[in-house]
Amino acid sequence: MKTLTQIIKEQLALAATCDQDHVELTLATQPQFGHYQCNSAMKWAKELKRSPREIAQQVVDKLDKSLFEKVEVAGPGFINLTLKESFLSDQLNRMAKDPQLGVEQPERPAKIIVDFSSPNIAKEMHVGHLRSTIIGECLARLFESLGYQVLRLNHVGDWGTAFGMLIAWMQQQDNPSPQDLATLMNWYRAAKKCFDEDESFKHAAREAVVALQQGNPQARAIWQMICQISRQAFEQVYDLLDVSLVERGESYYNPWLKDVVEDLEKKGLLTLSEGAKCVFHEGYEIPYMVQKSDGGYNYDTTDLAALRHRVEVEKADRIIVVTDAGQSLHFELLKLTAQKAGYLNHVRFDHVPFGVVLGADGKKFRTRSGEVEKLIDLLCAAQQKAEEILAQREHNMSADEVKQLAHILGIDAVKYSDLASHRTSDYTFSYDRMLRFEGNTASFILYAYVRIAGIRRRITTQISLEPIVLEHPSEIDLGLHLLRFHETLLTMADTLLPHLLTEYLYLLAQKFNAFFRDCRVEGSEEQNRRLTLCEVTKDVMAKGLYILGLKTVERM
Ligand code: ARG
Repeated sequence: MKTLTQIIKEQLALAATCDQDHVELTLATQPQFGHYQCNSAMKWAKELKRSPREIAQQVVDKLDKSLFEKVEVAGPGFINLTLKESFLSDQLNRMAKDPQLGVEQPERPAKIIVDFSSPNIAKEMHVGHLRSTIIGECLARLFESLGYQVLRLNHVGDWGTAFGMLIAWMQQQDNPSPQDLATLMNWYRAAKKCFDEDESFKHAAREAVVALQQGNPQARAIWQMICQISRQAFEQVYDLLDVSLVERGESYYNPWLKDVVEDLEKKGLLTLSEGAKCVFHEGYEIPYMVQKSDGGYNYDTTDLAALRHRVEVEKADRIIVVTDAGQSLHFELLKLTAQKAGYLNHVRFDHVPFGVVLGADGKKFRTRSGEVEKLIDLLCAAQQKAEEILAQREHNMSADEVKQLAHILGIDAVKYSDLASHRTSDYTFSYDRMLRFEGNTASFILYAYVRIAGIRRRITTQISLEPIVLEHPSEIDLGLHLLRFHETLLTMADTLLPHLLTEYLYLLAQKFNAFFRDCRVEGSEEQNRRLTLCEVTKDVMAKGLYILGLKTVERM
């Protein structure tokens, strides 16, 4: 289905005989101005050197009025548009019948790669990886809902110097087998200490990296074992978060690294800087360094090879990488380098940066002992807090039911509060705030959802749903908002900002509550058509929550 914005823009463009891209349409800022507002007359007037009001009036006169209840020129030349209730009802009924809820599916699905989560082997996942995982999964689900073919890639850090250190250290200790990630991390610390203090160990570690990269069986075997232990720890977190990814770490691109550097060389893009092979870009002091002076490859090399592979082999139409904002410069330079090398062609590449998670003290989020908080502990704590809160609130639930609900609510709350803050800003992590039942929280929206589910459940008589007829102002307001679901998803796919959807759902819950306060459903004359409105609201809410990665419950 076309979105309301698309439909109105089309009509305005026809009346103004211009391209739709030249029509600017926004939601009305006040209910008395109608539903939508077009501000383009001011711009057109400047180009034509005429009065904006006159131009606006001319467009209004020519506009096909069959969709509109009222069209007015206001102020300096705004065009205020109010859609007909019958038109809105028709659109909504079409949406209600469509299993995709009016979200158009393309004939040929474009392919998108979402590179997210991507923790590092032999290290704990931290809060930064939590953000990447939650945001990345949400974007992946968004694109799936828009009909894309999505490949979720876990670009784990499983290559490079750190592994040389670990392998060399383990070889020195007669190859013990580590039992868990904690042991492995201790060993890594010990290895790092040797590396910094002991020249001969440093040498051994470098040799171990080379052995690993050249496929030496013993080095490979140790490396495999290390990866396996980390993988198990990551999987625990992914299970809790209900996220699944294809692991394709840095090591995967090893066979292409040499080639990519040679290709840049051939294309004359490399400059030698203190022995390192670099690509310099105008306006940037720091180059993109693809080969270190000792001949080794690094993060820059793998990322360039990965990007090339994703375009040339995976045939992606769009690529996004979700990491903390600290890596923005790296990805800017990657993009510039890939463009110069001709790897990107028409493919859209977006780095999706996010801000830092802060503790109550306004500093980077840490545990009480001052260490970086382990993800798994943080998620379990959220579930624990949810259980405490629910136990106080829900007196009609058994302890088991409370526990089950708390498991869902705890994780939902963590995800929602992360997605609800503007992606690029830092946000303060607070269990108490994210678990509130009022305000822009997961619980508030789930509560509205449960309420709608309850309406249907309470009506025990046989009913047949009837087409929606929007009449009451609260009803129209809700209907109009439901019709904006599709365009919210489209804007989100362009801006890659998840808070647009949390805001949409927050408003949806509020508008539903207002409708339910003002319009009687059960036992009213309008019952069966209002139930249809409730059903679409429930479906849209469920779909929206799904895209956010939240689980729903039917009772609370
Ligand atoms: N492993 C990196 C980190 O922990 C993130 C990798 C993101 N993806 C990429 N293609 N560079 O910061």
